Amino acid sequence: MTTPAHTPPPAPPTNRLLLLLGGVLFVCVAGLFLILNVILRLSAGPSDPATQPVVAAQAVAAPAQAVPTFWQAPDIELVADASQKKQIEYGRDLIARTAAYLGPKGSVRHITNGMNCQNCHLDAGTRVFGNNYGAVASTYPKFRARSGGIEDIHKRVNDCIERSLNGQPLDTASAEMQAIRAYILFLGSNVPKGEKTPGSGLKALPYLDRAADPQAGEALYQAKCQSCHQQDGGGLPAPDGITYTYPPLWGKNSYNDGAGLYRLGNFARYIKYNMPLGATHDNPLLSDEEAWDIAAYVNSRPRPHKATPKDWPDISKKPIDHPFGPYADGFSEKQHKFGPFKPLAATP
Ligand code: HEC
Ligand code: HEC
Repeated sequence: MTTPAHTPPPAPPTNRLLLLLGGVLFVCVAGLFLILNVILRLSAGPSDPATQPVVAAQAVAAPAQAVPTFWQAPDIELVADASQKKQIEYGRDLIARTAAYLGPKGSVRHITNGMNCQNCHLDAGTRVFGNNYGAVASTYPKFRARSGGIEDIHKRVNDCIERSLNGQPLDTASAEMQAIRAYILFLGSNVPKGEKTPGSGLKALPYLDRAADPQAGEALYQAKCQSCHQQDGGGLPAPDGITYTYPPLWGKNSYNDGAGLYRLGNFARYIKYNMPLGATHDNPLLSDEEAWDIAAYVNSRPRPHKATPKDWPDISKKPIDHPFGPYADGFSEKQHKFGPFKPLAATP
């Protein structure tokens, strides 16, 4: 009997066992590598350049749908030119501490009532729905129906000086007007011409179905405002005697009846989203009714007179809450002051 020469001898059983063990070991080690790799990548987090773009893209994409992106002021520290930066900083200070320069005890001139622009244009005109200046550079010069003409930034600033600060206008060429203008232009330098930034000015507030009620407003004022703005509405002067810790809401040192805040809608919108101190546009502390009723009370108190029939020369362009006739519609001065505003808004 012969064994065929070409048939390989069967492998000894120990060899086969080794091969099998080797294979199993290989699979195990490879699997372990894979698991380790995944763990490493996950624990590395967003600082790992390999995973960063994915994480960043998710972080931007998710909230963008829910939260609108509001305008933010550019950073003054990034202004390269030293003299330009100084002028912009002076402008910001004139907005924040107006009385220290232009008030009754001001260091430059005595032309305003002791309030600061910032009392109404919060955080030096940068706060979301705090009456900010985000859209001024991009939209001025523009036609304004109040004056019936084109207004540039100088004219608009002097409007607030003469009305909100019940004062005398600044000379256009003065260092102060030039600095305020430079600051406002700087704030709007990140806004394309013609665009209105989200969160600029004041946030909309629905009209009530009834007239605003000054009597209800008086009780609310006592409960929610008086502790700071005082019983006589005259505010609380600061210890330095130059400006106010709490600015006045009526009386001889307050805004006059030609000012923007004297219109009930502007006042109600301002306080709804900014007062009492601490309220914000996304965390208001007053109901709509409270805001309108307090507005009716405060704007029924005495204050300096400035309003003139020259305001809104085209009476058909008067805002519905401008409280001085004559009007193009048949409604009374009283209804234009306190509402109900819905029927007025409905007339063309
Ligand atoms: C805790 C103190 C405090 C309370 C309470 C408060 N305010 Fe003010 N209010 C301020 C301060 C401070 C400013 C100025 C903000 C600034 O300059 O940054 C101000 C500014 C204002 C302004 C604009 C400037 C002016 O004087 O015309 C109005 C209007 C106003 N408050 C109305 C109200 C009303 C209405 C209430 C009640 C619902 C109220 N405030 C409650 C502290 C307060
Ligand atoms: C008593 C509150 C008050 C004070 C103080 C005040 N303003 Fe105003 N200002 C307003 C209101 C309200 C408006 C917007 C309503 C309107 O158009 O009448 C406004 C509007 C403006 C605008 C136009 C904003 C836009 O987007 O069109 C500019 C610019 C401005 N103010 C500058 C100033 C400057 C500068 C000062 C200080 C010298 C000042 N304001 C002080 C209440 C005030």
